[in-house]
Amino acid sequence: MMIANLVIVAAVLLLVQPGALAFQVISRTSLTHQQITKSAILQTTAEVCKARAEQQGQNFVMPDPLTVELLAAACSSPESARNFRSVINDVNTRNAQVDVRHVLDEEYHFDDESFLRGRDVITSGVDTVKANIQQQNFETARERLGETMHTLQDFYSHSNWIELGNRSPFTNLIRPNLPIDNIADRNTPTCRSCVGDNCDNNILDNIIAEKKLTSGYFSLTSFSKPDGKCSHGGKLDFTSRTEPTGGINKDGFGSEHGSLHLQAANAAISATSELLEDIRASAGDNDFLRLMGISQIFNVLCIVIDTSESMADDIAEVRRITSFIIDSKKGTTDEPSDYILVPFNDPDFGPLTRTTDAEEFKRLINAISLAGGGTDNAEMSLSGLWLALAGAPLRSGIFVFTDAEPKDAELKSTVLALIESTKSTVNFLLTNARSKRRRLSNPLNQIYQDLADASGGQTIEVTKDTLPQATSIIEDSSNPALVTLFFAVRSPPKAEHFSIIVDSSVTKLNIYITGISPTFTITSPSGLSQSSTEANGAVGTIQTVGNFQTMRPNNQNPTGLWQITVGSTQPYSVKVTGQSLTDFSFDVVEVVQVPHPAYMVLASRPRTSGNVTLLLSVTGGDSVKLTEVAAVETMGTETIDGSLEELGNGEYLATFTTAPRGSFGIRVTGQDNSTRSSQTSFQRYSSTQIRASNVSVTAVANGTWTPGSTFNVPFTVETSQSGGSFSITVRNNRLYNMTFPSSLVIGNGGRANGTVTLTAPSDTPSCTDVTMTIVATDPGASDFNYAVLRLSVVAGVGPAMSLSLSLWFIMIVSFLNQILHL
Ligand SMILES: *[C@@H]1O[C@H](CO)[C@@H](O)[C@H](O)[C@H]1NC(C)=O
Ligand SMILES: *[C@@H]1O[C@H](CO)[C@@H](O)[C@H](O)[C@H]1NC(C)=O
Ligand SMILES: *[C@@H]1O[C@H](CO)[C@@H](O)[C@H](O)[C@H]1NC(C)=O
Ligand SMILES: *[C@@H]1O[C@H](CO)[C@@H](O)[C@H](O)[C@H]1NC(C)=O
Ligand SMILES: *[C@@H]1O[C@H](CO)[C@@H](O)[C@H](O)[C@H]1NC(C)=O
Ligand SMILES: *[C@@H]1O[C@H](CO)[C@@H](O)[C@H](O)[C@H]1NC(C)=O
Repeated sequence: MMIANLVIVAAVLLLVQPGALAFQVISRTSLTHQQITKSAILQTTAEVCKARAEQQGQNFVMPDPLTVELLAAACSSPESARNFRSVINDVNTRNAQVDVRHVLDEEYHFDDESFLRGRDVITSGVDTVKANIQQQNFETARERLGETMHTLQDFYSHSNWIELGNRSPFTNLIRPNLPIDNIADRNTPTCRSCVGDNCDNNILDNIIAEKKLTSGYFSLTSFSKPDGKCSHGGKLDFTSRTEPTGGINKDGFGSEHGSLHLQAANAAISATSELLEDIRASAGDNDFLRLMGISQIFNVLCIVIDTSESMADDIAEVRRITSFIIDSKKGTTDEPSDYILVPFNDPDFGPLTRTTDAEEFKRLINAISLAGGGTDNAEMSLSGLWLALAGAPLRSGIFVFTDAEPKDAELKSTVLALIESTKSTVNFLLTNARSKRRRLSNPLNQIYQDLADASGGQTIEVTKDTLPQATSIIEDSSNPALVTLFFAVRSPPKAEHFSIIVDSSVTKLNIYITGISPTFTITSPSGLSQSSTEANGAVGTIQTVGNFQTMRPNNQNPTGLWQITVGSTQPYSVKVTGQSLTDFSFDVVEVVQVPHPAYMVLASRPRTSGNVTLLLSVTGGDSVKLTEVAAVETMGTETIDGSLEELGNGEYLATFTTAPRGSFGIRVTGQDNSTRSSQTSFQRYSSTQIRASNVSVTAVANGTWTPGSTFNVPFTVETSQSGGSFSITVRNNRLYNMTFPSSLVIGNGGRANGTVTLTAPSDTPSCTDVTMTIVATDPGASDFNYAVLRLSVVAGVGPAMSLSLSLWFIMIVSFLNQILHL
C-alpha cells in the first residue's frame, strides 16, 4: 500500500523540480522567518527614523525593547503602529508562501549548491521591489520583498557559510556585480556520513580549510544526489538517507546543525537588514517609511463619485467636506497621506487618480465637470467602486456618492470579491431618499446596502439638501486609529438587545444606527438611558439625518458595558466605533504541514467543507493577548467559537471546525494587562464580513508578461454540490483586452478548467500592476467564489510574477503529508 502511494506521489512530483526546506514558518522554539524578518525591519526602520529625527534637529530615543508600538511612537507616529504591523505581516505572508509555492525549486532555498541561480532570485527580486517603490506600488513592493527575503534568509540555514566561521552577511548575494566563487563544484565531495545528533562535524575538513561554499541537497522523492555531497537533512529529505547520510541545515534547534541555528538566524537578520538598507538607499528615507506603513500610508481618503448632470449639489458638498478635512487635519497625525478619486457616470467610469498632494486633490475635485448620465437614472457606480477597491491600499475607507442605481448590477459579486480580499470598508452616501417623510428605504439601493454590509460600512440615504449633515461620517472614519467595537445587520428586521464591551483604551466612541425610523434605547455603563426620540439626553447627542442616526456620548470616558435595544419594522444595522491602538486584522489561510507547518493566504472564500483557518494579528503591544475568537453571523445570532493557537509576535491561528451558514464577521476578545484600569478585557469586531462557499476558484499565474504581449492565466472551478453551467466573470483594473469562457459546465461535485488571456498594450509602462478577479457563480446564482490576482507587466526580461494561490498545489502537499505520516 505504501509503495503504491509513493508511486502516485512520484508521478505528481515529476511535474516540478526537486527542491527544499527552510527556516521554519511556524515554530514554538526556534527562530522563524517571521521573527528574522521582523527583527530586521524593526532595526532598519529605527535607523531611518533616527536619521530623519537628527536631520530635523529632533531627539530620537532608541526604543528598548524594540517593538512595533514603541518604534512607531519613537518615529512620531504612534497611530501608525497598526499599519506598521500590518505591513510586517504582509511581508511575512509572502515570505511564508515561498515554502509552499516554491517548495520544490531549489534556487529559492539555496539547496543543491544552486548559489548563482539563488543569487539571481534575490537580485531580480530586489530590482522589482525598487522599481515598484518608484512607481509607488507599495503593495506589490512588499509582496516581492517578502519573497526575496525568504531566499536570502535560507542561505544562512542551508549553506555552510556559518560552518566556515562567518557570522556576518555574505554581501555578494545582493550585489550581482561581485563574484560568488569558490563554490564546491559538482564533482567535489563535501560531507561524510553521520547519524542523528552526531552530525556537528560532517562537513569534510578540506572543504572547511579551503573555505569552499556548499549547501545541502534535498528531495522529497529521490534518494540520489551527486557523489559525496551533503544533504539538507530531516525526516522528509530522502537524499539524507543515501551516503553520505545526515544533513547540515540549521532550520531549527532540532536540526542536524541545530547547534548553529542561532548563529544562522542572527546572520540572516543582519543580511535582511543589509537588504533593507540597500532598498532604503535606492528609495530614499521617505519612501522607505511609506513602504513600511509608518508615515500614515494607510490613511487614505478615497472618493468615488457620480459625475452625471444631477449631481451638482452633491459635488459641491464633496468639495466642501474634502477641503474641510484637508484643512482641519493639515499637519496633524490624522492628515491623510494619500488621496484617491474615481469618477463615474454612464457610460464612462474612471480613471483612478491617486496623489499624495492635498492641494492637487482639491484641484482634481474642483475640476470635476458634470457630464453624461444617459437617459435613465442608472450609472456605472459598481465599475467605479471596483476600480477604487482594486487601486486603493488594503483596508482603505471608501466613500461613494451617487443619486442613482447601479447600471452594472451584474458586477455585484465581482465587487464583493474585492471587498472581502482587500478588507476595505465602503460607505455609500446616497442622495436619492424617497422624500423627507420616508417610510421605506429606496429599493433601488439594495445592492449598495448589501455591499456596505459586507464591508462593515454604511448606506446613508439622504436628500440633496441634508447631505451636508451626513458627511461627518467621512471625518469620523478618516482616523488611522479607528476600530470597530461592534457590527450587526438585521435584515429582515428583528427587535434585539445588544451588549458592547468598551475597554479603557477606547476614546471617541460613536454609535451608528442605520435604518428607516428605528426606535432604540442606549444605556451607558453608568446606567443612564436615552431613547431615539431625545436628540439631547442624559447619555449624549443623537443626530439624525435621513436613515442615519449617530449617537455621540457626553462623557469623554466611555469605558464599560454599553447596551443598545433596537425595535424596527425596517432592516437596520448597528455599528459602534472608537479610536484605540489595540486592534486586530485577519486573513483566511490554508495551513499545510509539508515540509513543515506553513500557511498561504487565500484570495478567495473558504470552503464550506472542512476547517476554516484564520491568521489573526493583534496590535497594541506585547501586553495584549487574545483569549477568544468567534465567527458571528452578520444577519443573525449564530456564533461559532474557534480555537486559538498563539504563534508569538502578536499572531494567532484561529481554527473553526465549521463556518456559520450565512455571512459572518470575526469577533475577538482579549486582555490588556498593561493598564491598571479595571476594564482590561477588550472586544473587537472585523468590519469585513466573509462567507464560506461550496464553489472554489483557483488560478495560477506563472511566467513573464511584457508590454505588448499576451498572458495566460489558467484557472479551475470546482463545486462540492450539484453541477451545471457556472457563469464566469473576469475583470481587470487596467481594462486590458481579455478573452475567457463566459461559462463552464461542471458535473456534480466536479471541476472544470478555463483560461483567461490578457493583452497588455505595447505602451504599458514597466512595473504596471494589474488586479484581476475571476468570479464563478453557480447555476442557481445562489453561491459564488472568486480568485483575486495581482499581476505585473514588466518590460525586458523581467522576473516571473506568480502571485496567485494554487490550491491544487496545496492539495499535492497535503496529500504528501498524509502519505509520509508526518
Ligand atoms: C480541524 O481543526 C481541528 C481542531 O483544530 C483539528 O483537530 C482537525 O485536525 C482539523 N481538521 C483538518 C481536516 O485539518
Ligand atoms: C501581563 O502579561 C504578560 C504577558 O502575558 C505577563 O508576562 C505578565 O506577567 C502579565 N502581568 C500581569 C500584571 O498580569
Ligand atoms: C452548500 O451546500 C449545502 C448543501 O447543499 C447547502 O446547505 C448550503 O447552503 C450551501 N452553501 C452555500 C454558501 O451556498
Ligand atoms: C511555471 O512555468 C515554468 C516555465 O514555463 C514551468 O517550467 C513551471 O513548471 C511552471 N510552474 C508551475 C507551478 O506551473
Ligand atoms: C482592444 O482590442 C480592440 C480591438 O482589437 C483595440 O481596438 C483596442 O485598442 C484594444 N484595447 C486595449 C486597451 O488594448
Ligand atoms: C485542469 O487542470 C489541471 C491542472 O492543470 C489538470 O490536472 C486537470 O486534469 C484539468 N482538469 C480538466 C477537467 O481538464
